[in-house]
Amino acid sequence: MSLFQKILRRKSMQDLQTGGDEAEGPKLNKVLTSRDVFNHGVAAIIGTGIFVLTGVAAHDHAGPGIILSFLLAGFACAFVSFAYAELASMIPVSGSAYTYTYATLGEIFAWLIGWDLLLEYAVGASAVAVGWSAYLQSVMKALGLHLPAYLAHAPEHVPWQAVFLAAGAITIGVIGMIKSRAALTGSAGAKTYIIGLVSAALAGFGLVKGWEVLTHLTSVDLPAILIILFINFFLIKGVSHTAKMTAIFVVIKVAVILFFIGVGIWHIDTTNYHPFLPFGWNGVFTGAAIVFFAYIGFDAVTTLAEECKDPQKDVPKGVIGSLIVCTVLYILVAAIMTGAMSYLLLGGSEIAAPMARVLDHLGYWWASPFVSIGAIAGITSVLIVLLFGQSRIMMRMAKDGLIAPLFGKIHEKYRTPVWSIAIWGVLVALIAGLLPISELAELTNIGTLAAFVMVCVGVIILRVKDPERPRKFRCPDVPLVKPAGNFAVTFLTRVFGLKAETEARLRAAVATFAWMLIPILGAGMSLVFMFSLPAVTWIRFAIWMGVGLVIYVFYGRLHSKLNRPDNQGR
Ligand code: ALA
Repeated sequence: MSLFQKILRRKSMQDLQTGGDEAEGPKLNKVLTSRDVFNHGVAAIIGTGIFVLTGVAAHDHAGPGIILSFLLAGFACAFVSFAYAELASMIPVSGSAYTYTYATLGEIFAWLIGWDLLLEYAVGASAVAVGWSAYLQSVMKALGLHLPAYLAHAPEHVPWQAVFLAAGAITIGVIGMIKSRAALTGSAGAKTYIIGLVSAALAGFGLVKGWEVLTHLTSVDLPAILIILFINFFLIKGVSHTAKMTAIFVVIKVAVILFFIGVGIWHIDTTNYHPFLPFGWNGVFTGAAIVFFAYIGFDAVTTLAEECKDPQKDVPKGVIGSLIVCTVLYILVAAIMTGAMSYLLLGGSEIAAPMARVLDHLGYWWASPFVSIGAIAGITSVLIVLLFGQSRIMMRMAKDGLIAPLFGKIHEKYRTPVWSIAIWGVLVALIAGLLPISELAELTNIGTLAAFVMVCVGVIILRVKDPERPRKFRCPDVPLVKPAGNFAVTFLTRVFGLKAETEARLRAAVATFAWMLIPILGAGMSLVFMFSLPAVTWIRFAIWMGVGLVIYVFYGRLHSKLNRPDNQGR
C-alpha cells in the first residue's frame, strides 16, 4: 500500500454497521430510548447562546434583525442536521462526524475531524463553563456573596511562550527518561546514559519554566474549574445516571423559556421593531455567526449512538426533533426580547442576563431569580452533553488505534470510558479556568463548522459511491426543485427537440441536484459562517490542525487498526 493509499484508507461500512471491529472488552450499556435522545439534544442546544449571547448580538450587531439571524443560523443547522441524521441512520456508532468521515473521506481526514471535534466539545465545554461561572457569580452577587478576585476569572495575561516551552520540554524529557530507563540499572551503553541525562536536564528546564508560568497566573476561574470536575465525576459513574440529571435540567430550562414567552408575548410593542435592520444585512449575518453558538449541540446526539436501544431510528429523530423545537423557541424568544423593549436597552453592564432584563423592564422583577436558576440549569446540561460527547469521540478514536488505547478502555463496573473522561476532564477544567470566553467561543464555532462541512460532503460521497446501502433516514429533496427542473427539461425538449437519451440524462441530473441541494446548502452556509470569523481565529485553527497532523503522522498512522493484515478497510 502506498503512503497515499494508506492515509486515505476508509473503514468498511460493514464493520461500522455491525460493530465487527470490537469483539473484545466490556461494551457500553444500551439503555437510552428516543425520549432520552431528544432530551439530550435539547440539553445540548439551549444554554449560553440564548441565555447570554442573544442580548449582545441584538445590541451590538443586528438589532431586531436578530430574529432573522436566528432564522438564518437555524436554516443552516437544519440542512446540516438532515446530513447528520442520514449518516447516523447508516453508521450507528458513537464517533459522530469522526466516524462518518472515516467511512467516506478516509483516515487522515477522519483523524483531522476527530481532532477538530475536540474544539467543539472540549474547548466548547470550557467556553460554556466560563458562562456558567459568570451566571453563578451574578446570582451570588444578588445574595450579597462575593468570590475573591483571584478566584473569580481567568488571568488577564497568560505567558504562552513559557507555557509551550514548559509543556514541550516536560513531555519530551519524560519520554526520553522512560526510553533510557535501562541506564538506571547500570546495564546500558554510553548512548543511553547521554540520552537519559539530556532528557532529565530537559525535564528540569521544563519544570523551571512551569514554575515561571505559575507565578504569572494571578487569578483562575474557580467555579468554571469546579463545575467541569463535578460533571466529569458523574459522567464516570454512568450514562443512565447522567440521563436522569439531564432530563431534570431540560425540564427546568424549557419551563423558564416557556414562562418568558408566555409572559412576554402580551407585551410586544411593534414600534420597537422600527428600525428593523439598524445595522443592515451585514449586521444580520454577523449576528447569525454569533448566535450559531446557540445551536451547537444538536450534532452531539450522534455520539450517543452506541448507548441507544435502536440507534438507527432514535438518533435521526433526536437530532432533527431537538433542533426544530429549539429553533422555534429561539425565534420566539428573540422576537419577544426585541419586541418587548428596545434593542438599545439590551446592552450595557447586565448583558449577561438579557431575559432577566426584559422581565425587569416589564415589571416582573420577582421572576429574575427564576430565570437565573433556569439559565444555570440550562448551561449545566449543555456541559454534561459536551463533556459526554467528547469522551465518546476519544474512545472511538482509541478503539480505531489512532490515539493511545487508554482512552478507549471501558470500566468493568461503570461501563464508561473512565480514562478518557478523567484525562480530558482535567484538561478541560484547566482551559476553562485559565482562558477568556470570547476566544474559546470563536474557536468552538470554527471547529464545529468545519465538522459540519465534512458531514455534508460525506453524505454526498456515500450516496454516489454506495447508493444501494439501506438508509433508515434520507435527506429529503428540496420541495419544488424536482418539479421545476422537470418542467424546464420538458420545455427544453419541446423547444429544441432534444433526443430521448439527452432528456433522460437531464431528468437524472435534476433528480440528483434535488437531493444534493440539502447537503450542498448545509456545507455552503457553514463555509459562509466560517469565513465571517476573524483572521486570528483562522490562524489558531490552522495551528491546532497542524499539531493534529503531526500527531497523526507520528502516532495515528503507525498504530491505526487498519494496519492489521486482517483489517485492511477499503
Ligand atoms: N448551544 C450551546 C449553548 O448555547 C453550546 O450553550
